[in-house]
Amino acid sequence: MEILDLRHFSSADLRPLLDDETQVWSRLLSWDYSGSAEMILRYVDAKILPGYAAIERGRIFGYSFFVYEGSKGVIGDLYVTNGNRLPDARKVELQLLTHVIETLQQSPGIHRIEAQLLAHEANAVARPFLEQAFERHPRLFMVLPLGKAAGSTPMHPEVEIRRWAESDYQAAAAVITAAYRGHVDAQINDQYHTLSGSLRFLNNIVRFPGCGVFDAESSFVALDRKAKSLIGLILCSRVRSDVGHVTQVCVLPEYRSRGIGDSLLADTVCNLRKRNFSMLSLTVTEANARAVALYRRLNFDTKRVFDAFVWEG
Ligand SMILES: CC(C)(COP(=O)(O)OP(=O)(O)OC[C@H]1O[C@@H](n2cnc3c(N)ncnc32)[C@H](O)[C@@H]1OP(=O)(O)O)[C@@H](O)C(=O)NCCC(=O)NCCS
Repeated sequence: MEILDLRHFSSADLRPLLDDETQVWSRLLSWDYSGSAEMILRYVDAKILPGYAAIERGRIFGYSFFVYEGSKGVIGDLYVTNGNRLPDARKVELQLLTHVIETLQQSPGIHRIEAQLLAHEANAVARPFLEQAFERHPRLFMVLPLGKAAGSTPMHPEVEIRRWAESDYQAAAAVITAAYRGHVDAQINDQYHTLSGSLRFLNNIVRFPGCGVFDAESSFVALDRKAKSLIGLILCSRVRSDVGHVTQVCVLPEYRSRGIGDSLLADTVCNLRKRNFSMLSLTVTEANARAVALYRRLNFDTKRVFDAFVWEG
């Protein structure tokens, strides 16, 4: 087995592995990974995707890649296929991660590394991260079958909820930045620290197909009727033709505990139900107890526990 730079390869070399991975994402997460896979393959052909490939008898059977975002490195994916006459997949995953982590830590100007390994069980590949003093944050992947959603809590009369509009960008970024001040999720994703970072986050969600395709119809904002200002929002993407995924839900601290979060989720659920979606999923940090309690009350079930890792050098 050899581990080589991903940039030695073309999309034709990687495609069989990504087809395999697409099936795994579909089975574990009800997620259609094919859009992301196509994007990865385009980057591979352009020779601009840093990462490593595991090779056995001339074929790629595992890979991991990362991206540079300013002074931060983000581990984008890790996947190794199991198979007859192939080396042990878990061992290869750990080797690939060790290479990726070393490369990022030795990259000039990189002071932070983030990783979220949605398709890996919590702790399964934690060793190379913990050896390098990464922080580990367990996160839950929760799902709500849309047939049996609870009704929403009555909401404060001074709050209006309407559909997301392109013109909400700037105000939404300000709400996100304020909602995550001092929050555990801002330790996991440092984009939440600044307005420009929150705008980048929004841009990634709304304009790029990395985390499904943004679904404006099932995304909503909450407004203070009197002040006419934006105070909360929910963003939803389509991760499979009939599956929605909440990519963001937040409410300004001073407006919490009035049922606004509950109503935003109820509106998304109601819209998706009308359009015959079968499921809504989301991810939440285990330590975010209020949010976890809210989702449980709405009948979301934990389907998987995975890890987010963060390193600051
Ligand atoms: C999670 C979050 C969106 C919830 O928003 P919210 O508007 O406070 O949620 P709700 O009011 O619907 O429900 C939360 C609480 O209000 C209570 N509540 C609901 N309706 C209420 C009403 N009409 N009057 C009083 N309390 C009410 C609920 O019972 C619940 O109880 P709790 O205070 O013990 O948690 C909000 O806390 C937030 O923005 N957090 C930071 C960002 C975040 O963590 N997002 C989720 C990432 S996965």
